[in-house]
Amino acid sequence: MNQLNSASRLTRKLAQIGPRRLLGAVYEALRNRVLHLIYGFDPWHVTGNFHARPYKADVVRLIESVPHDCVVEIGVGLGDILGRVHATKRVGIDREAAVLKAAKYCVNGPVSFAVADFEKPEELIAALKGSAVSSVDVLLLVNWIHMIEMDVIAHTLSAVSREISIKHIVMDTIRAGTPGYRFTHSQNDLRRLGDIKKVIAADDVRDLVIVEVKSIFD
Ligand SMILES: C[S@@+](CC[C@H](N)C(=O)[O-])C[C@H]1O[C@@H](n2cnc3c(N)ncnc32)[C@H](O)[C@@H]1O
Repeated sequence: MNQLNSASRLTRKLAQIGPRRLLGAVYEALRNRVLHLIYGFDPWHVTGNFHARPYKADVVRLIESVPHDCVVEIGVGLGDILGRVHATKRVGIDREAAVLKAAKYCVNGPVSFAVADFEKPEELIAALKGSAVSSVDVLLLVNWIHMIEMDVIAHTLSAVSREISIKHIVMDTIRAGTPGYRFTHSQNDLRRLGDIKKVIAADDVRDLVIVEVKSIFD
């Protein structure tokens, strides 16, 4: 019965992402499984890899659509997205130290990593300053920001932007009424942060949005 379920899951995935991506997804799942056994990070990262989750390539394309010397990803995980962005400076931040230890083996080229929790603005500012970030061209908040209430997002980003300027934010929003997600931020919510430049449908439940940040908000 279990084998039948696995076979039908594999067939569904093959139909969704095609044979080339499936091969990439299997390779990355094996690599991440070994890293997971060594570092013990959240098992989501084993199968939620770049080739298995097409939204990640869309995020890379959105970032490449605006000028960007410095790109920072909060909730960077193993660096699937940040590792594929071309930028002079790339900084990955996550609240889980174990995943960052493994991320070093998953990205090509220079990326600095730091541990900080988005919900603790002082910790985040210290991590950015510690990574010599003086301004951010694109800030990524993808595939976890639905766990955070809009007031908290606005408060943290306002506190950060008082010390370090942020030009653009790329984040995902879950469509209203989708079960299983804590928050579904609307476009009106996002307008608290700035002007919405582009929205693209990423998958069945989420859109990707790029916002040009206002100088002061809260
Ligand atoms: C589902 S993974 C997504 C990783 C990456 N953004 C991607 O799409 O490939 C979510 C990541 O966000 C991190 N995370 C969740 N809440 C966070 C917070 N409040 N501050 C910093 N990182 C957080 C988790 O530890 C995890 O590594």
